[in-house]
Amino acid sequence: MEDLLVSSWCKDRAVPETYIFPPEQRPGKLIDVPVGNNIPVVDLGVHDQTQIIQQIFEASQDFGFFQVINHGVPNRLMDDAMSVFKEFHAMSAKDKTFECSKDPNKSCSVYTGSQNYAKEKFHLWRDGLLHLCNPQEKYIQFWPEKPTRYREIVGTYTTVVRKLGFRILEFISQGLGISPVHFSSGLAENPRLLVNHYPPCPDPSLTLGQGKHRDPSIINILLQSEVYGLQVFKDEEWIGVKPIPYAFVVNIGYPLQIISNGKLKGAEHRVVTNSNLARTTASFFINPLDETIIEPAKTLVDASNPALYRSLLYKNFLIKYIATSGNTQALEEALSSSTE
Ligand code: OGA
Ligand code: NI
Repeated sequence: MEDLLVSSWCKDRAVPETYIFPPEQRPGKLIDVPVGNNIPVVDLGVHDQTQIIQQIFEASQDFGFFQVINHGVPNRLMDDAMSVFKEFHAMSAKDKTFECSKDPNKSCSVYTGSQNYAKEKFHLWRDGLLHLCNPQEKYIQFWPEKPTRYREIVGTYTTVVRKLGFRILEFISQGLGISPVHFSSGLAENPRLLVNHYPPCPDPSLTLGQGKHRDPSIINILLQSEVYGLQVFKDEEWIGVKPIPYAFVVNIGYPLQIISNGKLKGAEHRVVTNSNLARTTASFFINPLDETIIEPAKTLVDASNPALYRSLLYKNFLIKYIATSGNTQALEEALSSSTE
């Protein structure tokens, strides 16, 4: 693993053959797509809750993506978290591997590519640090101890961002007209933090930090650095997500598309690389427990609105998600109620 991390070798080489995407999946000239007509920005600091609910609902329907500002997470905490995330990925490969080897059950890991490097047809220009977060007393002992402030800062960061996540899920529930406590039993119990690192790439037109995908989480709350890289696929076009200082990017994952019975969109997105600058981001995925049932909310289903998706346990959803490896059509078919 140590030698495989992109950050270990990328300075000395052109893009290796095994990192070049097939022509139809390469970003090519679309590395810099317009960021003008952008995803909605929702101000969570306004008094009018109805307005917030409406804006989040519309953005989740139209784009499956929005940014939030005035969300209550202190700027200082966001800066500190981003600093330790960058420091972690700047450590030697040996240290990174050592710091992530404390749990025999591998609740904390460092990896490169898609977590299944050996089976990838082509590799991603990305290293990742992934760990479970909840309950914190159980998992914090397996988190990195280097950088020295990692546990303290990330412990606070994940607690605060989790609360923000619950607030956003409440707004989403209200927009959908389902119980405000819909997400409080199992569906949001197993959050995980993924710290992505995309080193500078000698030719960003050939490869991607992450290929086109939908997230297998309920929602993701993303801290992105000042460096641009995230693109959303909407109406057959790629649009760039503008980095806004101290905003979080929120996106709907596929399980929430199922829960909303297709009302909300688990949007497809990807990450392009940058030729001069490294980019570090942190995804806080709000995830269900393995044994939680994923199905359209009962109140959204009746004779005139039949369930579009069948019920399944989250762990079985994941098996299908992994088996269809990014093929949206195949996943849609595997989960559709008509293929039962
Ligand atoms: C992800 C993701 C976007 C980014 O982690 O699933 O889409 O900009 N991240 O890193
Ligand atoms: Ni994603």
